[in-house]
Amino acid sequence: MKQYQIALIPGDGIGPEVVAEGVKVLRKVAALDGSFDFSFTSFPWGCEYYLQTGKMMDEDGLEKLQKFDAIYLGAVGYPTVPDHLSLRELLLKIRVGFDEYVNLRPVKLLRGAPCPSQGKEPKDIDFIVIRENSEGEYVGLGEWHNKDQKDEYVLQTGKFSRKGCERVIRYAFELARKEGKHRVTSITKGNALNYSMVFWDQIFHQIAKEYPDIEANQYMVDAASMLFVLHPERFEIVVTSNLFGDILTDLGAAITGGMGLAAGDNLNPERRYPSMFESIHGSAPDIAGKGIANPIAQIWAAASMLKHLGHPEWYEKIISSFETLLCEKKILTPDLGGNSKTSDVGDEICRILER
Ligand code: NAD
Ligand code: IPM
Ligand code: MN
Repeated sequence: MKQYQIALIPGDGIGPEVVAEGVKVLRKVAALDGSFDFSFTSFPWGCEYYLQTGKMMDEDGLEKLQKFDAIYLGAVGYPTVPDHLSLRELLLKIRVGFDEYVNLRPVKLLRGAPCPSQGKEPKDIDFIVIRENSEGEYVGLGEWHNKDQKDEYVLQTGKFSRKGCERVIRYAFELARKEGKHRVTSITKGNALNYSMVFWDQIFHQIAKEYPDIEANQYMVDAASMLFVLHPERFEIVVTSNLFGDILTDLGAAITGGMGLAAGDNLNPERRYPSMFESIHGSAPDIAGKGIANPIAQIWAAASMLKHLGHPEWYEKIISSFETLLCEKKILTPDLGGNSKTSDVGDEICRILER
């Protein structure tokens, strides 16, 4: 029997609460399938760990993670530790260190999920955002000048390399072909960001020529934000920079039922390093410890991990179990108008999968 080695990083706040439900569902899937099983190793890294040890993760953390088939991460960050430190030293360290340059985030309105955009149905909101995940606005380069003086200023530098842009844009076009989609939309801001986004746009047009069967489309990020809400049906595959992808995918979550329903994959497409699967929400300090976080996003990340490990049929079954749950409306957490607990939702997903 195939035994998958999975590294768990439950992290902070609601992270451990929702990861527990993801693990519950993964165990259920393994039992129902019978051809594979999971061996989980949990790492205590996060803000608590930082307060005890002065480190967000072990010095040799990446070496420890390297041998795993995949990483399943909850959420990182808590008000006890400055965010720019905690996130850079754990989440971003893994994304960059393992060259997980593709952040694949589905924006998919499930049957039964609430949608604030009027008149939109599941067929209207079903696209994938490919966010550049290794460089761009997130490289952490910059300078701090004239500290505490009147003329104090800072420079925050982005890095957009030809290699970095080409590979993620090409990934988007390849994904379009693989998924039978017809359009790739690049979202940038070339009218204001005169180096980075002009460069990206040029590369996008170059790569697009290699894919005459796919329509290459382009919007500015401001207009695209409006279109996400008003005309989401225009999007099939979106490719965008690290920062824009971050912002747009919270918006994507908002039009498909909220942060409790949105997940993403941090992929190293060459599989030289383990890929990492996570919900896109954070540690939600406002509801942490209450047992009311919606675990669907985190379970969705588990489904994506199953797909990555070669079990796409289980991805489909799990997504369809969400739709059953959302349509039945019996077991829902407060963010979706219910009064069920996090663990009730995990239990119910397991029951639906058993049916
Ligand atoms: P957040 O996503 O944690 O929360 C935003 C809002 O959404 C909150 O009102 C929260 O209660 C709600 N929410 C989020 N997930 C939910 C769920 N599963 N069920 C129900 N409601 C949910 O964003 P934030 O408050 O800006 O960030 C909190 C911390 O998390 C910060 O330290 C931030 O840096 C970090 N963060 C980490 C990640 C990550 O680990 N990938 C992502 C985003 C934010
Ligand atoms: C996300 C998060 C992170 C990001 C933060 C916490 C650094 O918002 O995964 O969407 O911006 O990538
Ligand atoms: Mn984000």
